[in-house]
Amino acid sequence: MGYRFKLIGYPITHSLSPWIHEQFLERSNLQGTYKIHEIKPEDSFEENIKRLKNEQIDGFNVTVPYKQAIIPFLDILDDTARKMGAVNTVAYKNGKWIGYNTDGVGYVRSLESKYPNLFNDKENRVLVIGAGGAARAIYYALDRYEFSNIDIANRTKASAEGIIESANSPRRTKILSLEEAEKNVASYELIIQTTSVGMKPNQEHAIISSNDMNLNTIVSDIVYQPVLTKFLRDSAKKGAMIHQGHTMLLYQGQYAFEIWTNKKINIGDMDTKLKDILEGR
Ligand code: ATR
Repeated sequence: MGYRFKLIGYPITHSLSPWIHEQFLERSNLQGTYKIHEIKPEDSFEENIKRLKNEQIDGFNVTVPYKQAIIPFLDILDDTARKMGAVNTVAYKNGKWIGYNTDGVGYVRSLESKYPNLFNDKENRVLVIGAGGAARAIYYALDRYEFSNIDIANRTKASAEGIIESANSPRRTKILSLEEAEKNVASYELIIQTTSVGMKPNQEHAIISSNDMNLNTIVSDIVYQPVLTKFLRDSAKKGAMIHQGHTMLLYQGQYAFEIWTNKKINIGDMDTKLKDILEGR
C-alpha cells in the first residue's frame, strides 16, 4: 500500500507540500501518497485528529493555525519542538505519535547547501530580523550549530528578548531596533529576514534599506512569494550574495521526509522546478 502522509491546516488548498513530497516519493522509488486534510475553523479539531489517527497514516505535516493546537494530541515531543512550543511534523513510530519542528534545521540545511563556507567560521556575525515563530526556529537552529554571534532586530524589542530567554544559551545576543539594524548592516556576514514584510501583495516593501550593505554579506529572506523579494533585489544591487526563501521549504520537507522514511533525498533540480512553479511557469 505504501506510505501515507497528510497535511493539516487552514487554508491549505494552495500548499506546495503535496508537490514537494510527491517528488520525494518518486525520487526515492517509494510507494505512497501525500494528501491535504483541511480543517476549517468551525470544524472540531479533536474529531479531525481522532479520524486522522484512525486512518493509520505514517505521518503528517501541520501548518497554520494548528502548530500549537496539535501538541496535546501527541505522545512525545522532540527537544526542538518542545523548546519552540510548536510542531510542524508528526510521525507515527512504534505506536506513538511524535511531534517535531523542522523549520530551523530546514533553514540551516538550505543555507549550508548554498554557502557551505559560511559554516567554517562559527564566529561569523549573524543578524536575524524579526522575532516571530520563524525567527525563533532559525535562532535556535543557529545556536545549535554553535554560531556564537547572533543578534536580533525587531520592531518590538520585547519579542526578541523572549527568544533569547527561552533559548537559555550562554551566547551574547544584542537586540536592535530596525533603525539600528539598517545603520549596521555592514557589520554582519549573514543577515536573515524572517518577517512577512515584502510578501505578495506587498512586494514593493523591504523591512530595512540595503543602502549600506556590504559586498561580502550573505542576505537571506525566508519570504518565497515573490521568490526574489525587494530586500534581496536591493541587496544584490549592492553586491551582496543572496539566499532565497523557497529553498527553506524544500529542505524542511527533506528533513520531514527523512523523519518519516529514514531516506534523505537530494534536492538537486527541485530548487529550479519549485521556482518555476512559484513564478507561474
Ligand atoms: P511567523 O510566526 O510566521 O514568523 P509572526 O509570529 O506573525 O510570524 O511574526 C511576525 C514578525 O514579523 C514579527 O517579528 C513582527 O514584528 P513585531 O514583533 O514587532 O510584531 C514582524 N512584522 C510583521 N509585520 C511587520 C511590519 N509591517 N513591520 C515590521 N515588522 C513586522
